[in-house]
Amino acid sequence: MTVMDTFDLTGKVALVTGGSRGIGRAIAQALGEAGAAVAVTARTEDAAEQAAVELRGAGIRSFGIALEVSDAADVERAVIAVSEQFGEIDVLVNNAGISIGGAALEVDDQVWRDVMATNLDGVWFCSRAVARRMSTRGGGTIVNIGSMSAEIVNQPRWQISYLTSKAAVHQLTKGLAAEWAPLGIRVNAIAPGYIHTDMSPVYEPQYKPWCVDPAPMKRAGEPHELGPAVVFLASAASSFMTGSIVTIDGGFTLH
Ligand SMILES: NC(=O)c1ccc[n+]([C@@H]2O[C@H](COP(=O)([O-])OP(=O)(O)OC[C@H]3O[C@@H](n4cnc5c(N)ncnc54)[C@H](O)[C@@H]3O)[C@@H](O)[C@H]2O)c1
Repeated sequence: MTVMDTFDLTGKVALVTGGSRGIGRAIAQALGEAGAAVAVTARTEDAAEQAAVELRGAGIRSFGIALEVSDAADVERAVIAVSEQFGEIDVLVNNAGISIGGAALEVDDQVWRDVMATNLDGVWFCSRAVARRMSTRGGGTIVNIGSMSAEIVNQPRWQISYLTSKAAVHQLTKGLAAEWAPLGIRVNAIAPGYIHTDMSPVYEPQYKPWCVDPAPMKRAGEPHELGPAVVFLASAASSFMTGSIVTIDGGFTLH
């Protein structure tokens, strides 16, 4: 086996939550190009199916399914549906996430709860549902999409719930990695910096001086620049890694 063979995901089934657009869509594409069959979820059936159609157009076996990650019962339903109708899941990418801004003293309780429910509960529910099945099959890999916001405080847009949720995702990654290592399940995360998506309009005039100019590389990342690292963490190329948080931020957190 050559070193490039270790990145090969041929014969594997991946599930990418929030895979219909932005970072998740790019990750789905990357996993598919590495050989995996890819199930993508979105909050609506139409959005999930649209992404699956595009992936199939690129020659990737794909399956689209609606999923609300903050609902434990819906997660169980979707994981069973993917496993039974598409294939048992070897790779889970917990990507679905939201960010809602607002000053801490003004932010609504519902905003706090919604952000925690999607960004933290969602990762937990999906990981647990998939790991139960992985554990009976000798293991698998889980890649969580954390954030550099687990370590730094984004400005000028305050978002206390988002920062807190992503810090929790990093620690959840480490805790599950330790607990599930004996089951053959590796759990790692990436911590992206500013990536140019709907969630992150970083080139708009009010954000650029804060989000782009301080970065040593003087630009934001593009979603496709995260795909290779996720393929690495999903595949045998990272066989001795678990509980790691891989920062991909153009150097933003260096100072
Ligand atoms: N864009 C950035 O700068 C950046 C930086 C670091 C981390 N991230 C993280 O990357 C991930 C993707 O972000 P993005 O920028 O592509 O965002 P996006 O808004 O473009 O896409 C988010 C995806 O998550 C799905 N989603 C949201 N809430 C959901 C829910 N409750 N149940 C199911 N699906 C849900 C949406 O349908 C969509 O497909 C998020 O976890 C985000 O926190 C983004």
